[in-house]
Amino acid sequence: MSKDLTGKIILEGKEYEYPVIVGTENEKAIDIRKLRADSGYISFDDGYANTGSCKSDITFIDGEKGILRYRGIPIEQLAEKSTFLCAAHLIIYGELPNEQKLNAFREKVAGRARLHEDFKHHFEGFPPKAHPMAVLSSMLNSIGCYYPEMSSNNREQDLEQFDEAAALLISKVRTIAAATYRMSQGLPFIYPRKDLRYVENFLHMMFTEPYHPYNPPKEVVDALDLFLLLHADHEQNCSTSTVRMVASGGANMFASVSSGVCALWGPLHGGANAAVIKMLQEIHDSGDDGSRFIRAAKEGKARLMGFGHRVYKNYDPRAKIFGQAAERVLKALGRQDPLLDIAHHLEQAALSDDYFVERKLYPNVDFYSGIVLKAIGIPVDMFTVMFAIGRMPGWIANWKEIAETSRKIHRPRQIYTGSAKRDYVPMSQRK
Ligand code: ACO
Repeated sequence: MSKDLTGKIILEGKEYEYPVIVGTENEKAIDIRKLRADSGYISFDDGYANTGSCKSDITFIDGEKGILRYRGIPIEQLAEKSTFLCAAHLIIYGELPNEQKLNAFREKVAGRARLHEDFKHHFEGFPPKAHPMAVLSSMLNSIGCYYPEMSSNNREQDLEQFDEAAALLISKVRTIAAATYRMSQGLPFIYPRKDLRYVENFLHMMFTEPYHPYNPPKEVVDALDLFLLLHADHEQNCSTSTVRMVASGGANMFASVSSGVCALWGPLHGGANAAVIKMLQEIHDSGDDGSRFIRAAKEGKARLMGFGHRVYKNYDPRAKIFGQAAERVLKALGRQDPLLDIAHHLEQAALSDDYFVERKLYPNVDFYSGIVLKAIGIPVDMFTVMFAIGRMPGWIANWKEIAETSRKIHRPRQIYTGSAKRDYVPMSQRK
């Protein structure tokens, strides 16, 4: 709260004065929490584009400058020097772990990868073509049922069990993802191995055959680790806000992150990484080099998936980092992907086109991530699941922040625009 700054709102000639809140990076907000009580007015902000829904210590974004920091540390430094699990620790606990703490965290996560054998029945309950995001959301909530002491919906008790629940979710989300893939292919489930690191263990559960172990190239492991790290948190996006909303009612962490998965699923959010590949493939199959598609996007007949962002009005720093990773991994695997050429062409064409320049539309994290996931052998339907694995630390940290600091249920108001009061019409008189 700034002592000097206040903001005034004049409504029907009456002046109301409210304090201004200033963030670490000098971002300012007028605190109108008392506006309704004082004046009867509420603020209207469809889509929350202009609403600070909370104070948070976790992630900072400056969308105008293209800055992203986890707990103050720039994403570029983390991408170069950290690993996903190290960044997960930073996001959840606020500090980079020393070697001893990182090893303990790694051990804890590694030791919790196995699913209860009963989960086989849960998986069998889904039709083979069930979308992996539907399965993931259900399974995350189901895990909570096996650990009632961690999913009590009693804040104090759930917080006492926080370390255990967090490690368990970070570990098991990957086991569920791999099992979902194996089920969809009619393949036997592969048990996790405690001797493997986080990403290796996931790839093992995905691609090992009982008669043929899968040993991924280092470049694949590094690219996937980077993918997860870049997705680990992104302040108040649609899915994280959903997690916080559910948590605000007192729901446990399993239920809260399960709802985050559903929010992530849509093509305007996490589903965009799959939509980008589908778009690039369609452009390729139609013999277009991207020019026709750009025209259609400008005419409002198509949307350039992987472009644009609610917050970034500059390059999404994650897209820059991952664009380079896409080049690296394809080169290392000795692959050429015509979709990468189309992506480059689309990017160049869009960045020099007035329509995109005026609207400040730049590539977002999803633009190149699908190309990398495809090169690794992850099926398109699983792309958003991969995003969810990466986002788990962010959801967990945000759940914790709510559980520790907020006692207020999130409950926005609305402007009602439906019918005015009218009487019930009996069936015989209805048209
Ligand atoms: N292609 C073409 N035009 C676009 C695009 C796009 N990808 N994105 C925005 N625009 C245009 C809109 O048509 C609108 O133009 P207008 O002013 O002439 O009406 C203007 O840019 C503003 O767009 P909005 O939809 O109002 O921007 P908003 O902030 O609500 O949406 C969003 C952001 C949803 C990300 C949007 O840019 C989009 O749909 N992008 C494609 C989907 C995507 O890549 N989503 C992933 C986001 S990152 C993430 O969640 C991980």
